[in-house]
Order: sequence, then C-alpha cells, then structure tokens
Amino acid sequence: MRIGVLTGGGDCPGLNAVIRAIVRTANGRYGDAVVGFQDGWRGLLEDRKINIHNDDRTDRLLTKGGTMLGTARTNPDVLRAGLGRIKRTLDDNGVEALIPIGGEGTLTAASWLADEGVPVVGVPKTIDNDIDCTDTTFGHDTAVTIATDAIDRLHTTAESHQRVMLVEVMGRHAGWIAMNSGIAAGAHLTLLPEVPFDVDDVCTMIKRRFQRGDSHFICVVAEGAKPVEGSFHLREGGIDEFGHERFTGVAHQLGVEIERRIGKEVRTTVLGHVQRGGTPTSFDRVLATRFGVHAAEAVHHGRFGQMVSLRGTSIDLVPLSEATKQLKLVPENRYEEAAAFFG
Ligand code: F6P
Repeated sequence: MRIGVLTGGGDCPGLNAVIRAIVRTANGRYGDAVVGFQDGWRGLLEDRKINIHNDDRTDRLLTKGGTMLGTARTNPDVLRAGLGRIKRTLDDNGVEALIPIGGEGTLTAASWLADEGVPVVGVPKTIDNDIDCTDTTFGHDTAVTIATDAIDRLHTTAESHQRVMLVEVMGRHAGWIAMNSGIAAGAHLTLLPEVPFDVDDVCTMIKRRFQRGDSHFICVVAEGAKPVEGSFHLREGGIDEFGHERFTGVAHQLGVEIERRIGKEVRTTVLGHVQRGGTPTSFDRVLATRFGVHAAEAVHHGRFGQMVSLRGTSIDLVPLSEATKQLKLVPENRYEEAAAFFG
C-alpha cells in the first residue's frame, strides 16, 4: 500500500514525532510505502512530494520541533476548488490512503475529501487545544510550558519594579493556553476570547491589589480577548487572506488604556511564535507518537473518514465530520475555577 502524509496549517511541536510514528508503523511494521506531500495541501495541489523511509534519519525526528514536510495555510475557497486536482495527484502517485495532520482548517478539508470517497484518516494538531472530540492535542502542553516559564520570569521583574505586567499568549478563538498557563504560573488575572472583559473591572482589580500592599500584578491576555461593548475601543486587525482575524495587539492596547486610566506603570510582553518553536515536551512526544501509530493502524485496517483522538488515557477514532463541526472553547465552569485565584 502507498500512504500519503501532509502537515497543514500553523506548525506545532510534535509534528515530526507523528510523522516518525506513522512511518515506523506503516513502513517498518507493515512494509507500506509512505510519501510525504510538502507544504500542506499545496504539495498535493502542485504534486510536490518526497518518499519517507523507516531509517535512522526518520528515527531522529522525535525531538525536533517544526515539520520535516513544511507546512502552509491555504485559503479554504482555494482548497474547495482544488479538490479535483488533489484527487488526481493522489491517483497519479498511486496513493491509496491519506493522513492529513492539522488543525481545524486541515481537518475540515480532510472531511470534504472523505465525503468524496477519498480514504482519509486525520490527526489533530494545534497548540491552541481547540479541536473538538479529543481531550487534547499535542503541541498544547509545550506551548503552555513555554508560556508558564515566561510568566514565572515576569513575576520577579514585575515585583522589583512594582509594575503591572501584561503577557499576551496565542489563542485566537479559544483561551486554553492563557487559562492553563495563567493557572500554572499564578497570574492575578487571565483574559480569554470566551469571556469579554471590562477595562474598569481590570483597573479596579489592579488598584485593589496595590492598595493591599502587594508588589505587582500579572495579567495573561489571550490574543483573541475582546472588551465588552462600550468598555474601550479596541482597534481591530481585520481579516487576512485565509479568512482569519488578524492580530490586534490587544495586550498593548489594553496596557496603554490601563496607564491612562490609573497611572500605574505597565509593561507588555507578546510571546508570539516562541510558543510554537523548539522541542516538544515529553507529554507531547508521547501523544504525538500514539496518534501516529493509531493513524497508521487505522489506515491498515481500512477505518477511513476518522480522526484519531485522546479520550481519557485511550486513543479512539471519531468521525471527521463530528470533530470538525465546532471548535472546543473554554467552558464557563473551567474559567470560574481559574477565577478563584484572580485579584
Ligand atoms: O493556530 C495556531 C496559532 O498558533 C494561533 O494560536 C495563532 O493565532 C496563529 O496560529 C498564528 O498564525 P501564523 O503562524 O500564521 O501567524
């Protein structure tokens, strides 16, 4: 059998570990050939690929961040229009099954292909942890670990200067990175896309903390956090060529507003792509490896139209159509748990 693999969307620590596990299982255990399409769906649209073997080079991928196949974002309209071309590339290369590894956009395209009869098994990846029907995805733990380490470091410098520190983390629609790193690093407030914030409340909380004699205030801000209407005017970033909301720089804008309203010194740190780079944590290496093994096994047993998923401690298969219906946002009760430590 000839199996195609691609990595789509933003990169994420653990992608190489999945590729390694797929190759080790498909090629090493079953003798199947694995062909890697380059730069996400573009590799299939343009027929650019490499053969990947179960050798020493592949074995050493486990700890390496990024993706050996390259990745890219593709406009969903371009993808829809290109489904015929993608199917032709698969046929021309004798590829009998495809394993797309990606986030919401990549898995949605995988689901379209499955609807058209292409044998597909999806692997979820995202640092944001917003893919539904799986407890978590690899990459998230690494991003939270990096953010936690950064916030730990901000505590000491904030204390020395009695400052307010805002730290912006990734998460356009879902605030999982913000919430988990905020809890882990003992932030005094965390702002998520799911719960619009009121600047007056933020300022009151800061003033109260300093009046109490505390030395600093750390606030984690998800990049998709938004103020409640009428609270303050956030300059929007607009929509990019992939249909995503552009980065608004919410933390910088909020910092200026806090200084203006209460005269406290504020410093803002935007962690950005540091959260996505470098070697995956051991948790992510294990999860990525398990996802890769199970995806290759699913292909071998003809279980198509599915996505591998973590349920408790088991790896299951869920229909791609189910997993791509909606994003997994932070539920209210989880935010309330975190809020017990605010102020
Ligand atoms: O989807 C993962 C993610 O890291 C988001 O958290 C972030 O908003 C986005 O990707 C950044 O995308 P890009 O790498 O295209 O700037």
